[in-house]
Amino acid sequence: MTQGKILVVDDQESIRKLVSMHLRKRGYEVFSACDGHDGLEKALEHHPDIIVSDLMMPGMDGIELCKRVKADKEMRETFFIMLTAKGKIEDKVQGFDSGADDYMVKPFNHHELLARVDAAMRIRLLQKELRSLSDLKDEFLGIAAHDMRTPLTVIKGWCDLFSDNLLGELTSEQREAIAGIGQQAALMLDLINDLLDVAKIETGKVQLSLSRCNVKSIIDDYLHAQALVASKKNITLVNNVPDDLEPVWLDPERVGQVLNNLLSNAFKFSPEGATVTVSAARNGNFIEVSVADTGVGIPPEDVDNLFKKFVQVSSKATRGEKGTGLGLAIVKKIVELHGGKVRVKSKMGEGSTFTFSLPIEKRKPSESQGTKIDKNLALSEN
Ligand SMILES: Nc1ncnc2c1ncn2[C@@H]1O[C@H](COP(=O)(O)OP(=O)(O)OP(=O)(O)O)[C@@H](O)[C@H]1O
Ligand SMILES: [Mg+2]
Repeated sequence: MTQGKILVVDDQESIRKLVSMHLRKRGYEVFSACDGHDGLEKALEHHPDIIVSDLMMPGMDGIELCKRVKADKEMRETFFIMLTAKGKIEDKVQGFDSGADDYMVKPFNHHELLARVDAAMRIRLLQKELRSLSDLKDEFLGIAAHDMRTPLTVIKGWCDLFSDNLLGELTSEQREAIAGIGQQAALMLDLINDLLDVAKIETGKVQLSLSRCNVKSIIDDYLHAQALVASKKNITLVNNVPDDLEPVWLDPERVGQVLNNLLSNAFKFSPEGATVTVSAARNGNFIEVSVADTGVGIPPEDVDNLFKKFVQVSSKATRGEKGTGLGLAIVKKIVELHGGKVRVKSKMGEGSTFTFSLPIEKRKPSESQGTKIDKNLALSEN
């Protein structure tokens, strides 16, 4: 019975055959490759659970192979075992530094090798189980969120009818109560739309509609739309985007969503009278857009966690504005789908600058959308 796939990479045929034979006898499905290049090709083709690789090989060595495998989104969970004659401490450290998960020195004892491979395979199986549970959770969340949207929209619709006096005159108390219900329904709808977005992006359902666009005109439109929100908090909105930026391949609606999320954070985490500045410039093959505020800032220890789902760090909204911690997770995913990156610079008490980059040239889908994609779990939006 096959228990998993293993790729054996070694330039010495005798070792390759010996290791493969032991693994096959154990019940594993085994592929082999004669050097790093061959190993990389076979890994891409067969998606092994484990790679057992020699270190010194002509052309691409085991260290480089390991780095490439670990840098690839599709393959980085592959368990990488170095099997090499190089047994010094510094060799082992170099192996682990390149991303290896285990290290064995030749000449090897095959009982030990099999025990280590079995242990690695147990980890791989647990990893896969976790991944499928997480996918299931996303699917469930997406379906639940989707099904809540319709009743909420109806509740909001009734509230609007009451507020507009279309169902008769209301007393001021009744009007206040209806307005409260309407606001809460709107908040829940926002949350649900965010949840659906996250689930759709994570399950690979989001396809960008790319067109060659002028970043400035998109920013101008969104800043115009946000001017009223800014003015309610007496925030000065500065548009520093030059007219002569190269057009960029992007999905205008999704990039607008990125801008809206960054602007809403800048407003939320800035006091009355603050300034929010949007700027953009070319940097190499990318256009970089920044949203800078003069708000509360983010503690350095929180910066690494900001982009995770449902994370709200210690910086607090200045007027108790609400949120769920999904905005930046969505921002990061949308920017990465475009082939760009997001970064943040912040100083407590002085403000924060969020910058995202967008490649000027159109990316191939594999370059820009190389995240885990499981179309079977795609959610329906109908
Ligand atoms: N411009 C900013 N200044 C200071 N802190 C910020 C800023 N932007 C984000 N943060 C911090 O990062 C956290 C995560 O931001 P994110 O946009 O993901 O969530 P949120 O704004 O709290 O909720 P949501 O966007 O889902 O409504 C925020 O709760 C806040 O603590
Ligand atoms: Mg937010």
